[in-house]
Amino acid sequence: MRHMETIIKKIDKNHENTDIIGEAGRILKEGGLVAFPTETVYGLGADALNEDAAKKIYAAKGRPSDNPLIIHITNMKALEKIVSEIPEKAKKVAEKYWPGPLTMIFNKSDIVPYGTTGGLDTVAVRMPVHEIAREVIDAGGGYIAAPSANTSGRPSPTKAEHVAEDLTGRIDMIVDGGPVQIGVESTILDVTVEPPMILRPGAITKEMMEDVIGEVTVDKTLIKPDSKTVPKAPGMKYRHYAPKADLTIIEGPMEKVVEEINRRAKEKTDAGYKVGVIGTEETVDSYLSGDVKCIGTRADETTIAANLFGILREFDDDAVDFIYSESFDTAGIGSAIMNRLLKAAGHHIETLV
Ligand code: TXA
Ligand code: MG
Repeated sequence: MRHMETIIKKIDKNHENTDIIGEAGRILKEGGLVAFPTETVYGLGADALNEDAAKKIYAAKGRPSDNPLIIHITNMKALEKIVSEIPEKAKKVAEKYWPGPLTMIFNKSDIVPYGTTGGLDTVAVRMPVHEIAREVIDAGGGYIAAPSANTSGRPSPTKAEHVAEDLTGRIDMIVDGGPVQIGVESTILDVTVEPPMILRPGAITKEMMEDVIGEVTVDKTLIKPDSKTVPKAPGMKYRHYAPKADLTIIEGPMEKVVEEINRRAKEKTDAGYKVGVIGTEETVDSYLSGDVKCIGTRADETTIAANLFGILREFDDDAVDFIYSESFDTAGIGSAIMNRLLKAAGHHIETLV
């Protein structure tokens, strides 16, 4: 790919930033690529209705071309233009959880190019709540295709530095709005099927959606992956979020988990390997070997979601050989945390009794 200059502009909350937003909008309207923050992770934006622009995203990320993009909008009028119908249940979910960390799959309208949907007749749509994201989307014409702004296969970026690490020289601009709040990608709900189905867990949980529309199912490849069934969200089949190290999750009674991680970390360290340990505020002081990182507190699992991808990147930077991680509850945002952690571990989890 041809090397280009990447402009990096930091948004200052205390100042008028219309120049930066204006520049981002201009680049998007001209068919360029702009990375920007959302409340979940940083996105790599392009004009979703311009097939050539959308295609540049695949080249910049090294993303397989059958992996469709999410179109980001800021209002319901925009939704009507890009989908062929809005099911009643989707309206209810949108009323409650948009704008926010939720993506819904609809049947697409004719104006959405197949270059954006990876050849599918359906389209993923998200309405983010992040102020900078909304300003960039509107400035760019209102329909912005944006996957996570990482190189394909690396953990999603939770701060502008992560984007710069992966994409400098490959995209036109990075709008730096500081670290994101949530840290894992949006929930994906397919509303073209009945009952609606979750294709990727996120901060908006199954229970939260069932409160509004009744039964919601979960793509069964998310619960128990097997080689014969292909996930319904094409992106979920790739070994995403993968750190370079060999990651093992240890679950069981906390005392035993700490003891077992200590045993393995010491064994690998003694053998000359670099070892990383993922602990929590409740346990970090009990770990004795390796590079021990605190991912957050079990008292508030949103802290764990916020730190997950950043910690995996830090271990990459430190060229760690083995990582041992504690396991987490799957209630609330925990199902998103465990989904990403299990993928990072290639589903290598061991249970102690
Ligand atoms: O939080 C997020 O959703 C972030 C921010 C930037 O908005 N975006 C994001 O995009 O995570 P990406 O491209 O990294 O993940 C999109 C996922 C992929 O797994 C893709 O296969 C799936 O959504 N997807 C997109 N369109 C789809 C469709 N029509 N049917 C099924 N799955 C779809
Ligand atoms: Mg992604």
